[in-house]
Amino acid sequence: MTTKKRYAEPAPGPMDVEAFRHVVTSRRSVRQFTQTPIPQAVLDDCLDMAMLAPNSSNLQPWEFYVVRTPARRAALIEDCMGQNAARTAAELIVIVARTDSWREHARMNLSEFPMQPVPKMVKQYYGMLVPLVYNQGPLDSFGRVRRGLARISSRVRAVPRGPCSLEEMRLWAAKSTALAAENFMLALRAHGFDSCAMEGFDERRVARLLKLPRHALPIMVIAAGERAPDGVYFPRLRFARERFVHTV
Ligand SMILES: Cc1cc2nc3c(=O)[nH]c(=O)nc-3n(C[C@H](O)[C@H](O)[C@H](O)COP(=O)(O)O)c2cc1C
Repeated sequence: MTTKKRYAEPAPGPMDVEAFRHVVTSRRSVRQFTQTPIPQAVLDDCLDMAMLAPNSSNLQPWEFYVVRTPARRAALIEDCMGQNAARTAAELIVIVARTDSWREHARMNLSEFPMQPVPKMVKQYYGMLVPLVYNQGPLDSFGRVRRGLARISSRVRAVPRGPCSLEEMRLWAAKSTALAAENFMLALRAHGFDSCAMEGFDERRVARLLKLPRHALPIMVIAAGERAPDGVYFPRLRFARERFVHTV
């Protein structure tokens, strides 16, 4: 009998935690940037690192719109209520969560899977389970059925409760996309650039500006560039760990 060798990726060696800490602690929300542009290679690298974020079922429900054309940029600044961070940014990137790309991305997880032949478990996951879990059906009808079934099954065992509606799909997509946004901002910092995440924008107008389809949700606009000497307005404040961490 032949035993199949499982894929293995051993833990990498020691990391420079102080370098990582420096990236994390020096990231601040910057509201005033210099006019120094971000080199395209740096921006591309940061976007690539953004897309390495963990994400639900590896369905990668994100999109990044680098807004450059002068008319669009001016409109986007206006849609961000003229915030300083937006006005002075070298680049404005709209980060979009998609609730509809899962179907194509499930297929791509199979066609581009980095092991051939595709393991049976992976085939079943993307071929059967994913369509079952993420397809909400007309007016969330499939989701409602799943929710009802989950209620019954949960009396005897733990069951996944969602997403069971288009609204829950928005939350589902936003979770993974926000992780990509954080990767992006940390990557910018590691390259010596800075950012400001903004949710202070008119979501509908931004969607219209970018001609986004119905199932695309702009979750953040990221202003990015080189920090001006007076670009950070206040010292950082975080509350005590005890307030948030509960060891139970
Ligand atoms: C989802 C989100 C939305 C935000 N929206 C805005 C915004 O519209 N305008 C702004 O100036 N800052 C915005 N911020 C930045 C926060 O105000 C900032 O992260 C917070 O005050 C902590 O400061 P720090 O990032 O310098 O640590 C946002 C941050 C996040 C994560």
